[in-house]
Amino acid sequence: MRTQVVIVGAGPSGLLLGQILANNGIDNIILERQTGEYVLGRIRAGILESVTVDALKRAKVTGNLEKDGLIHTGCELVHNDKSYRVDFEKEVGRHVVVYGQTEVTRDLMEAREASGLTTIYEAADVKLHNLDGKTSYVTYVKDGEESRIDCDFIAGCDGFHGVSRKSIPADILKEYEKTYPFGWLGILSDTPPVADELIYLKHERGFVLCSQRSKTRSRYYLQVPLTDKVEDWSDERFWEELKLRIGPERAASLVTGKSIEKSIAPLRSFVSEPMRYHNLFLAGDAAHIVPPTGAKGLNLAASDVLYLSDALIDYYENNSSEGIDGYSDRCLKRIWGAERFSWYMTKMMHKFPGLDSWDEKMQEAEFDQLFNSENGARLLAENYVGLPY
Ligand code: APR
Ligand code: PHB
Repeated sequence: MRTQVVIVGAGPSGLLLGQILANNGIDNIILERQTGEYVLGRIRAGILESVTVDALKRAKVTGNLEKDGLIHTGCELVHNDKSYRVDFEKEVGRHVVVYGQTEVTRDLMEAREASGLTTIYEAADVKLHNLDGKTSYVTYVKDGEESRIDCDFIAGCDGFHGVSRKSIPADILKEYEKTYPFGWLGILSDTPPVADELIYLKHERGFVLCSQRSKTRSRYYLQVPLTDKVEDWSDERFWEELKLRIGPERAASLVTGKSIEKSIAPLRSFVSEPMRYHNLFLAGDAAHIVPPTGAKGLNLAASDVLYLSDALIDYYENNSSEGIDGYSDRCLKRIWGAERFSWYMTKMMHKFPGLDSWDEKMQEAEFDQLFNSENGARLLAENYVGLPY
């Protein structure tokens, strides 16, 4: 088999890239380790910056998004008993759209199927070969049989645990990592959200995020110790803890119900540089992870994919290598900005085990300064709706 671009991974990055390339006449094949159902079963964040909406437009998959996406012009931040609304529209004249990553992935999968493009699910033992040669190739095993695909380029869209980043020689890669001493326990339920807008709240007992997928589906998160297991948290225990942290007034309007998904995710910041090695380009979680406090994961994946698709289109249409040569630096500039914001929000809004009273006062002063300075709320809004692309 031969194609122009082999894409490893059928998460949002790989599917989005495949669709934009195909819409511009560039042939591609996706290799995915899991089944399609498995990929769709993963629940992730659901806040889209305008760069992501633009990318989905380029992929021509905005039918459901236009129908079901909810425009949010602000969000609420609460620190102990102080509460502020960040008005994105007033501060920076922009907004975000609430639309789940699962729905984004489903829309992209359906579009790919309708375009008749090849996706090989349950492709085991994917290996990348001859990355620094003129023609690279990828091998994989499906139903016990090994196959080979020759290609011009490989896009490593295979997430943090994928094979692509590990295929770059260790002496070339530089990795930066920060882990946090807690996780987020998330619950999805078919209940109306407790508020119209998202609430990020710091409480003595730990952080809370009140999020949503629609007017009838809520997503809530609680900061929990890394040692906690999902089995430790019955629905009843979750709702009781949530009520304690959000306080009696909000708790009075909270509608509880059966959870339809419950999971614990550790928090991590991670960047690997560079994002290109000869014919291999990394995009999305394969190259970087952000803690979810800034809602940046999917949005960074979308900007990587836009930079990469523009670079490859320029290469094929104009025989220019300028875009592919500048790919890594262009991505990393935006990535480090989003890493800073996600780290800053995480530091300010969580209860860190072992922090002394001085450190806690500093967290509070940091929060106050945001809203006591004209520039504070603007800076937060500017980052939240998305740094320049
Ligand atoms: N071979 C083939 N496929 C693989 C391999 C492999 N060796 N390793 C991983 N994959 C697949 C995974 O099964 C997964 O479906 O690559 C896909 C990677 O998808 P994601 O982890 O969702 O990464 P990405 O597409 O970059 O999406 C970024 O996901 O984690 C969130 O917050 C993040 O929203 C962001 C988005
Ligand atoms: C979510 O809805 O899952 C979500 C929203 C905002 C975040 C993180 C997660 O910052």
